[in-house]
Formats: sequence, structure tokens, C-alpha cells
Amino acid sequence: MSSAKSLAELIEAHKFVLDGYNAYGGGCEMTPISMKTTTLHPPHGWVGGKSRLAKQIVGLIPNDHDIYIEVFGGALNVLYAKEKLPKASYREVVNDLNSQLINLHRVIRNDNAKMEKFINSMFISRECFNDIRSGKVKPKNNIEKASYFYYLLSLSFGSKGDNFAMPKSRKPKNIYKSFTKWEKRLKGVTIENMDFQKLIESYDRVDAFFYCDLCFFSDMKNLDKESHR
Ligand SMILES: C[S@@+](CC[C@H](N)C(=O)[O-])C[C@H]1O[C@@H](n2cnc3c(N)ncnc32)[C@H](O)[C@@H]1O
Repeated sequence: MSSAKSLAELIEAHKFVLDGYNAYGGGCEMTPISMKTTTLHPPHGWVGGKSRLAKQIVGLIPNDHDIYIEVFGGALNVLYAKEKLPKASYREVVNDLNSQLINLHRVIRNDNAKMEKFINSMFISRECFNDIRSGKVKPKNNIEKASYFYYLLSLSFGSKGDNFAMPKSRKPKNIYKSFTKWEKRLKGVTIENMDFQKLIESYDRVDAFFYCDLCFFSDMKNLDKESHR
């Protein structure tokens, strides 16, 4: 990680943005050099997802980079809340170590019509949820794998995927939706499945912007607090 910028260096490098942000009175005010926001939210939840903060985070990202890298992508709340810069050289990369989640993002981008059809053949039921959860029902391909993962995320408490959530007073979540708006946003986005250290080393360059939503220390394998910082 020798050439990768630390968070402190990044903050220093973009201090003018933060100063500008404060000068505008904080809150959700945008500086003229920050990225524009969209109204798109992920199609599913994720533990630690920044759904409520995404727009504020986007407002702090300067628009002077050529490559945007989301190191700990999760549900991609920030990517979905941010505009794609309209310049030919602009590239976006998202990453996560969780291969189930990455398979879901890739299927949404490449094959969501098949996934939508498969999900439409599924019932919302506790038995079905538990059979998928316990591995009694196994996916036959990546489309089914993505569909099952999406099903567990969508129908569990706090999107943790472990307990079926059927509130007495509310209807269950509507899992039957079209994924085309997310497919459109993910077109041209590189979706990686790497450990963050390897990813940062692979993409580090002068015009790169890394967004790191650091996870809990307990999530980080083989890493002490100092190197995490
Ligand atoms: C706090 S969540 C990110 C949430 C995301 N910003 C969002 O709004 O949905 C942290 C993510 O880091 C991923 N992660 C954990 N260890 C990792 C590692 N060593 N390299 C890359 N990603 C990792 C987890 O799978 C998790 O999705």
C-alpha cells in the first residue's frame, strides 16, 4: 500500500472542498466543484449501508477525478446516489470482498431479466426463506444464486439475511420489481471482488478518487488497527 493515499492524505488533498462545503454552511449544500446527486437508491438493503448519508457523502466528492473507486461497495448507496461524470475518460469501479454480493451486482448489470423472471416464480414464505437460508435448496447457476441472495436480503430483519421478517401489521416487502434502472446505472462500471489492499494497489494513480466506507475491525481479516487506519 506504499503509493496508496491514506484517508488523512485524501482529506488534506481535498481540504479545499471541505472548506468550501463549510463555507456554504454545511448541511446538504453543494459546492460548485462537488459531484451532483441522483434520486436512485439500491434495490436491496445492506448492513452498514449509507442510505441516509449517501447524498451528503456525494456532496463531499470533488469532480476533478477521472476514475472513481468504491473500495467497500456494499449495496452501492453512494454510487447510485452520484452522477456519472459526462467525460469520455471517466471510469467507475466498485468492489467488495463478499462474492455473493458481487455476483448479485453483476447479475443486475448483465442478466437482470432472467433474475426478474426467476424471482417472479418464487413465493414469499417462511419455509422458502428457511430452505434457502439453510442450503436445503441450492442454486443451479449464478442467476439463481443472485435471486436467492436478493430474496434473503429483502425479506430479513435489517437486511441481515438470517431471520424471516413478516411484520404482523405490515405487508411483506415487494420483491417483484424490474431491475432495469439499476442495470442502466451499472453499465460500464467495473465490478471487482478483491481484498481492499489489492484493489487500492491495482487502481492507485494521480487522478483516482477512492471512497472507503471502512467496515468494522472485526470484519477485517489479518489486519491490526494501525494498518486499518
Ligand atoms: C460498511 S459496509 C459498506 C456499505 C456501503 N458503503 C453501502 O452504503 O452499502 C463495508 C463492506 O466492506 C466489505 N468488506 C469487508 N472486508 C473487506 C475487505 N477486506 N476488502 C473489501 N471489502 C471488504 C463488506 O463485505 C461490506 O460490504
